[in-house]
Amino acid sequence: MKAWQVQELGEPQDVLKWVDVGEPTATEGQLLVKVDAVALNFPDILLCRGIYQEKPALPFTPGMEICGTVLDGPRAGQRVIGGPGLPHGGLAERVVLSEVGAFTIPDAMPAAKAAGLMITYQTGYVGLHRRGQLKDGETLLVHAGAGGVGTAAIQLGKAAGARVIATAGGPEKVQVCKDLGADVVIDYSADDFVAAVKDVTDGQGADVIYDSVGGDTFDKSRKCIAFEGRIVVVGFAGGRIADAPTNHALVKNYSVVGLHWGRYRHKDPAVIPATHEALMQLWEKGLIDPLIGAELPLSQAPQALARLGDRGTVGKVVLLP
Ligand SMILES: NC(=O)c1ccc[n+]([C@@H]2O[C@H](COP(=O)([O-])OP(=O)(O)OC[C@H]3O[C@@H](n4cnc5c(N)ncnc54)[C@H](OP(=O)(O)O)[C@@H]3O)[C@@H](O)[C@H]2O)c1
Repeated sequence: MKAWQVQELGEPQDVLKWVDVGEPTATEGQLLVKVDAVALNFPDILLCRGIYQEKPALPFTPGMEICGTVLDGPRAGQRVIGGPGLPHGGLAERVVLSEVGAFTIPDAMPAAKAAGLMITYQTGYVGLHRRGQLKDGETLLVHAGAGGVGTAAIQLGKAAGARVIATAGGPEKVQVCKDLGADVVIDYSADDFVAAVKDVTDGQGADVIYDSVGGDTFDKSRKCIAFEGRIVVVGFAGGRIADAPTNHALVKNYSVVGLHWGRYRHKDPAVIPATHEALMQLWEKGLIDPLIGAELPLSQAPQALARLGDRGTVGKVVLLP
């Protein structure tokens, strides 16, 4: 079988190699799955660079979420989504998934959409509901609203009954957020989002801020968080990890809430199937629908990851065999 492999650390376009690897074998509690679609995530780039929180030994195959077809056993023929564990990720022809972590999907759901309905939506649902305690009628600010994590959060925020403000870099991305249903969208590459958020919330600020950018964006978010608001720390796409001064949180009565969705696999695994169920219901009601910004052949994995790292994509980028 063939897979993309990182044999030395660096930029994806330099270090990913399409090589013959051994055929994966499913052991007790695992399923062998043919990959029908693999969705890319920013952490795939960080993994290639060796700066992600997980640091698998070389060589490894990135690719954190797939949609595929089970090849044998009692579930043969089932279409499932799941996250193949490192070092044998989803940028491959076949993967092994844990049986409990392989979730069935409706027949009508296209493979590309299904592949994009795992990590960013699970993260968004857990981040907004469990960690952010978002309530109907509250104001949610989603940073980088046109990205993979951001597009999911806009849809999930609207589905939860929130008023959604999104930020995005540039007019095209602003339009993407509007099309997804965001109530207010701010081009934060041109305008000061702090002033804009205060303006549209009568000076109160946002109740929940979903921040996958970090750095200056986090620093500024502290200036437009509401009384008893929650800033959910999701990621650091901007590159800098900001500090959270505790005196500021005290004076303004807000919380800084960390979110590492992958930890639930080990610390509280029941959260993940429960979240899958909730997401499937939202899909059935038409309240969520992954935005696939690009569908490319698996052979273009290095170029696709380079585009993702350069802020050149919207929604999810999905690769098909
Ligand atoms: N906590 C968790 O459990 C969890 C789960 C999944 C992902 N994440 C994290 O969430 C973040 C976003 O992931 P994603 O897959 O949604 O990526 P993505 O689709 O590439 O979106 C990232 C967005 O961040 C914005 N951005 C701002 N500064 C940037 C910079 N210097 N370089 C690149 N992008 C920049 C860009 O939007 P604009 O151009 O509009 O600014 C870009 O579209 C990553 O940090 C990832 O590690 C965390």
